[in-house]
Formats: sequence, structure tokens, C-alpha cells
Amino acid sequence: MKQGRTPVIAGNWKMHKDRDEALQFIYKVNEEVPSNDLVETVICASDVLLRCLVKRQGDNLKIGAQNMHFEEKGAFTGETSPRVLENTGVTYVIIGHSERREMFAETDESVNKKVHAALKFELTPILCVGESLDIREAGTTNEWVKRQVVAALYNISHEEIEKIIIAYEPIWAIGTGRTATPEQAEETIKAIRDVVRELYNDSIAENIRILYGGSVNPGNIESLLAKENIDGALVGGASLDPASYLQLVDAALKKQKNNRC
Ligand code: PGA
Repeated sequence: MKQGRTPVIAGNWKMHKDRDEALQFIYKVNEEVPSNDLVETVICASDVLLRCLVKRQGDNLKIGAQNMHFEEKGAFTGETSPRVLENTGVTYVIIGHSERREMFAETDESVNKKVHAALKFELTPILCVGESLDIREAGTTNEWVKRQVVAALYNISHEEIEKIIIAYEPIWAIGTGRTATPEQAEETIKAIRDVVRELYNDSIAENIRILYGGSVNPGNIESLLAKENIDGALVGGASLDPASYLQLVDAALKKQKNNRC
């Protein structure tokens, strides 16, 4: 984590938590999270919970969706419009999570369309990329991830790219308890930053936030944040418990304060 880039700790609750559980979490966490200019804290919940979470969010904790359609309206049964997310007060949206790419036929093309749509509706996209175990073992991770980043950012302007957060999530590390080592995560995240440099410029590459995701927990967050290019985490399992989520936020806050000294 480098000085100047505000860290992000984004929870991805996936299809967990009912309404009562979600509210209990929010009431516990709301007052404990630091100011947004120190650490950006986000919870991405199921669509049906978003309105009630937005109504109760405090000044700092932000609410995000886990997916959306790229069209504003139309005959897309079961889908959620980015305009409705914006109306609801949601400010972030995860795009291209590997579970959606693998199980719901998300393609590089739809991911790119969704990034454009999110920006149009003032939603901050958390754009996910990451490789399977086969690709990691074949030694072609960086090429794979670079290709995903280039496809997702097709026709995104210099002004727009600054609003995007990228999350590098190796598929083999998601929900498996097998985290990438800080060195593996740093190497690929640095490669992603270099793609942004090639596509845009040095200053944009130095400012864009790139997160790591995949079995992040309070025990490994510090070693990940110790790496220069890792600007926070996208967290599934360890974001469900308020105490564990707050420990992750606290680790980012400590690092941020140390960097500023
Ligand atoms: P995990 O999930 O932290 O449970 O591995 C991360 C994610 O899917 O975003």
C-alpha cells in the first residue's frame, strides 16, 4: 500500500445474511469505521437488502451491489438496472466477479459494458479479474489477467478510469482458505498497474486502487497490505462477522496512518 492511495476494504457478502443479520452487522459496524478519507469501507450485499442498508448506513460505510445489468431498462427478467441502483443510493458495484463469469456466463464483453454503465450512473465499479489454478500452474497468470483488464477497460476514457477500483482475485484462492502469498499477489497486481500505465499514463497508474481478494482474513491482511501495490482487499467469508471485518479495516487504518507519518 502506497501513500496517496486511500485503501479500500470491501466486503462481498455473496448470498449470505437475511435482513435481520444484515441490520445487526450495520448497527455494529457503522460507528466503528473510520472516516472515508482514511479508509474506504464498503459492504456489497444482495439486491433485496440494499435499500434497507442504504437507509441505515452511517457517514462512512458505503453500500454496494454485487452485480447489475448494463442496460438501464428493458425486457431482462430478473436483472437489476444500474439506474435503480443509483436511485436506491447504492454507490459501488462489483463487476465481473469470477463466480459470475463461471456460473452466470459473464463475458469480457458484458463486463466492459457493465463498467461503462456503472460509470454512467455514478456507481464506482469494483472490477474483478483473476486466473484459474490451471492458468497459474501453466505460468501464464499475468498474460491472462492483463487480457481481462484490457478487455474490461475498452473505450474507458482517462477521466473515467480514475473512478474505477480493480480487484485481483485468483479463483483458486476464493473461499478455499488458500490465499495467494503476498509476493504472488504483489507480482500480479504490479503487472495490472503496468497495463494501466501502458493504456493510460504514469499518474493514472500510480493513483488507481488495486485490491487483492481470495481468503483474506485478519491473520493475513497485514502482510498483504505491506506490499507496495496492494491497496486493500475484497473480502468474502471474513467480511460476514462484524469483529473480523473491523479488524481488516483497522489493519488498513494502521498502515495508512504509518504511511502518513
Ligand atoms: P473469500 O471471497 O474472501 O471468501 O475468499 C472473496 C471474494 O469472492 O470476493
